[in-house]
Amino acid sequence: MSDPLRLELNDGRTIPQIGLGVWRTPDDVAVTAVRAALEAGYRHVDTAAMYQNEAGVGQGLRASGVPREAVFVTTKLWNDDQGYDRALRALDASLQRLGLDYLDLWLIHWPSPRRGLYAETWKALVRAREEGRAKSIGVSNFEVEHLDRIIGETGVTPVINQIECHPRFQQRRLREANLERGVRTESWSPLGQGQLLSDPVIGAIAEKHGRTPAQVIIRWHIDSGLVVIPKSVHPDRIVQNFDVAGFSLDADDMARIEALDDPDGRIGANPMTAAF
Ligand code: A2P
Repeated sequence: MSDPLRLELNDGRTIPQIGLGVWRTPDDVAVTAVRAALEAGYRHVDTAAMYQNEAGVGQGLRASGVPREAVFVTTKLWNDDQGYDRALRALDASLQRLGLDYLDLWLIHWPSPRRGLYAETWKALVRAREEGRAKSIGVSNFEVEHLDRIIGETGVTPVINQIECHPRFQQRRLREANLERGVRTESWSPLGQGQLLSDPVIGAIAEKHGRTPAQVIIRWHIDSGLVVIPKSVHPDRIVQNFDVAGFSLDADDMARIEALDDPDGRIGANPMTAAF
């Protein structure tokens, strides 16, 4: 299996464009899923303190035998740990659970505007990067006003904004705003949490190419320049989701997928109003 495509980040580092997502993956299952992914050629795993599987991710990483430095590991700071000191303590705890001495990418999980702490929290991420405990730093679920506030207060631009993005909720405006600021967009729930796999348009395109619906959707993310982290706990699907190099979508396929965008297509929480 060939090396995964990598995209450049605004801090000069690179990220493998496809990673394994592990939301709703229990700790023990994460061990086998991460190991299967690394054996299949993935070099990027995306977890979060909130997922309660950082220990399993670290175990899977070690069990795979793939060297630490060959794998891009992301985790995220949970909302309850926002604030400068709390965030740095939470980083210690995440690293300890993962069994690592640095992260490749540390993200603020949600802006949680009702807490009013995300700008102060961002300063802790900047510190972690200076200390080398997080090689790159970014955010998740940030809207434009949140991005502009942290950039304005620190002069440090996040490398990534990880947001809900899939064919039914394509986030074109926010993706454009990210791009204008030099921030890469990373798609969470890229398969619409599996809901999009039975969409007839996706199914027709999959049939045309002799591929699966999941492969067509992952190809759409890749061809759209997005970092993509499909989640599966099944080794066969993990392999399948990474095997997307041998075909491409034509202009007609892209147009049909773009037409699936729906302003009401959001599945997860709205970052402006989320209660957590
Ligand atoms: P499972 O983990 O049981 O394989 P998303 O990444 O958008 O959150 O979607 C994840 C959902 O899609 C999970 O329910 C996952 O189930 C399912 N899924 C992931 N890859 C595939 C695939 N190749 N075929 C079918 N279902 C998949």
